[in-house]
Amino acid sequence: MRKHGFSPHSLIEALHSVQDTFGYIDREALIFVSGSLRLPLSKVYGVATFYHYFTLKPQGKHTCVICTGTACYIKGVPALLDSLQAQYGVTLGETTADGELSVLSARCVGACGLAPVAVIDGHVAGKLTPESLLKRLEEVIHHELHHQS
Ligand code: FES
Repeated sequence: MRKHGFSPHSLIEALHSVQDTFGYIDREALIFVSGSLRLPLSKVYGVATFYHYFTLKPQGKHTCVICTGTACYIKGVPALLDSLQAQYGVTLGETTADGELSVLSARCVGACGLAPVAVIDGHVAGKLTPESLLKRLEEVIHHELHHQS
């Protein structure tokens, strides 16, 4: 937004930046963008939902954003995606049938030194292997189930 001078015209670029960095656009981000650009929230929300390209916060209880930027991709994203497909039956842009997990992609979350990286429920997990990724997901999903019982 700084790059575009906080101009209302930079709304689409701002939303692109949010999505590229976080994998999706949640309510906090919509409010932040609306406040920073001095645009009504309804307008920001309208634009974010109008364009097919933008993804609003997914419906899964947990989110796993796989960074598909170059550094991460080279360091093993395809193997991570294979393991997600095998374990949960989902890939980028999908949510498991039980609504527990949504898998998304981001273009670079700014932690290339830790490639390959995923952001799981807002926490960066780096130097992932298929095993460590599945373990992390297992932990967040089970932690929650444990708390409910
Ligand atoms: S490419 Fe994944 S963090 Fe930069």
